[in-house]
Amino acid sequence: MDGNFLLYSVRMRAARGGAHEDGGEHISGAERLVPEAEAETAAAALIARALSRGVSPDFVRLTMERIELAELARVPALPLTTIHAGGPAEARLHAERLLREAGVSDPAIILAFESLQNGFGSERAALRGAALVDPLTGERLDPLTARGVRATHFDYAPGARDAVAARLAEQGLTHFRALDALAVATKVLWSGVRAELCWSDEPEYVAGYVAAPICGYTRFPQFKPSGARGGRVFFVDRNQWETVRDRLERAPVWIDA
Ligand code: COA
Repeated sequence: MDGNFLLYSVRMRAARGGAHEDGGEHISGAERLVPEAEAETAAAALIARALSRGVSPDFVRLTMERIELAELARVPALPLTTIHAGGPAEARLHAERLLREAGVSDPAIILAFESLQNGFGSERAALRGAALVDPLTGERLDPLTARGVRATHFDYAPGARDAVAARLAEQGLTHFRALDALAVATKVLWSGVRAELCWSDEPEYVAGYVAAPICGYTRFPQFKPSGARGGRVFFVDRNQWETVRDRLERAPVWIDA
């Protein structure tokens, strides 16, 4: 691909009961980062996704924004490992070991699991993004609101989505969620996050993962205990959290196979 094309971030978010900014309930969101020639197809695919959730949205917002090509980073997808633990309790033991190896303290690990189980803070909130957490103390670093921090402005590079999907399918992973989660984790670590712990906030989806430079993307098919709230924790060194947040939210990244 030559360097003379324009690059666009195309993002979709859908809600029920009104727009997000008017208190509507978020039902889906997705994004692409594509050359101009693919922007129209990407936008149509995102709208199709908004309409395919089984719940018709009352509100869909599509945002298209040109991205400076000079700012685009390219990064290989994290290696993926699946650990078939006997259930959530055993998966948690493996996850705790991986997080310790990534430099996260035991108190921080306990607090993170507690938040994913019951919600964050005294209000037991489910966050709209991830909590940025100090790996030494377990203290939350981003403002103590229900917003959290969302990784955005990333996508598979042209051709890489199909190549990674084929590799995942060889491992029996054919759901689009696995492909999406691998992309999120890749951008998250590239942004300077020391380790990520994730349980889906969708009640029926019990797989989850730990991602860290030392273990790549390590997936547990049965990780989330029943009744848990779910969510994401990004462990970030305290003196770097604002820089990491800015990269998570703004820096454009293409993920290679
Ligand atoms: N969950 C819940 N609410 C969301 C949301 C999400 N994933 N994404 C957006 N919203 C709502 C929020 O109310 C948000 O306001 P806030 O910033 O005060 O939280 C509002 O929509 C506007 O968000 P904004 O980030 O400006 O939306 P956007 O139009 O740029 O689109 C998405 C961003 C939807 C593409 C992106 O957030 C997303 O959902 N990506 C899908 C993958 C994913 O879940 N990533 C999260 C990794 S941590």
